[in-house]
Amino acid sequence: MVKVWDGFIRGFHWLLVVGIVVLYISGDEGWLDLHFVTGYVLLALMLTRVIWGVFGSSTARLSALFHSPKAIISALLKDQPATGHNPAGSVMILVFFTLIFIQLLSGLMSSDDILVEGPLVQYVPYAWVELANDLHRDNIDLLLLAIGLHISAIIFYRIKGKKLVKTLITGHTTDSVSKPHMRSGKLAYIVFIVLAASLLLLWGQEPLLALWSVD
Ligand code: HEM
Ligand code: HEM
Repeated sequence: MVKVWDGFIRGFHWLLVVGIVVLYISGDEGWLDLHFVTGYVLLALMLTRVIWGVFGSSTARLSALFHSPKAIISALLKDQPATGHNPAGSVMILVFFTLIFIQLLSGLMSSDDILVEGPLVQYVPYAWVELANDLHRDNIDLLLLAIGLHISAIIFYRIKGKKLVKTLITGHTTDSVSKPHMRSGKLAYIVFIVLAASLLLLWGQEPLLALWSVD
């Protein structure tokens, strides 16, 4: 057994899944206090993932996600054990990170045109707010499409005998791959908590208080 995913990457993934589900439902239902609070926590999570992508374990590195078209096509055509994400999966993950940051950034500049506006609305021209609102509504469909493809790929690999979900839960793979350089995810969790607390202090006090006072 080789350890390929550190504690932060494992926790990050399932926190991301819960965060996206809560954001989708709260956005759709118009529960914007919950939407904003979850949005700030998810922003902190994604920023921590980027920082961990520079300083973290070798399998968490963002630089490990860039591959030549030849390597990507070859990973699609034949099954090769990879230490971390395989080159085709890496493309999917870069697409995810891009779509999630577009969703977060457009949300910060969105407004429901009645009562609620994202914290950056006051700093940008109205044309940007209109664009951000459109982006926030349209990009969600791309994100849903990417999630559908992602889950289909995981099921496809499972049928072929690869237990990727188990590896993402336990951190260990049974594939014979080279041992990566691992770092303890604890430091990343500290960064995440500090960033989330800072964003909630900066922007989240109003929605947090509103959530608190609901009885
Ligand atoms: C909201 C839905 C989801 C999103 C946004 C999402 C996003 C991601 C991202 C960004 C990664 C890369 C992790 C990293 O290096 O930071 C990843 C990996 C992974 N995800 Fe998801 N995911 C979602 C749902 C799921 C579900 C439901 C499953 C299980 C059925 C799953 C299974 C996996 C697995 C196994 C990997 C590791 C793939 C590999 O070994 O290369 N994901 N996902
Ligand atoms: C990945 C993160 C996010 C997801 C998946 C998400 C998803 C959604 C969805 C599905 C809607 C409903 C759109 C519609 O009415 O058709 C929505 C609305 C909204 N979101 Fe987000 N959102 C995210 C992040 C954020 C953030 C960080 C903010 C601001 C802090 C934000 C602010 C808003 C606002 C103001 C609306 C209402 C727009 C309107 O009524 O026209 N969102 N979001």
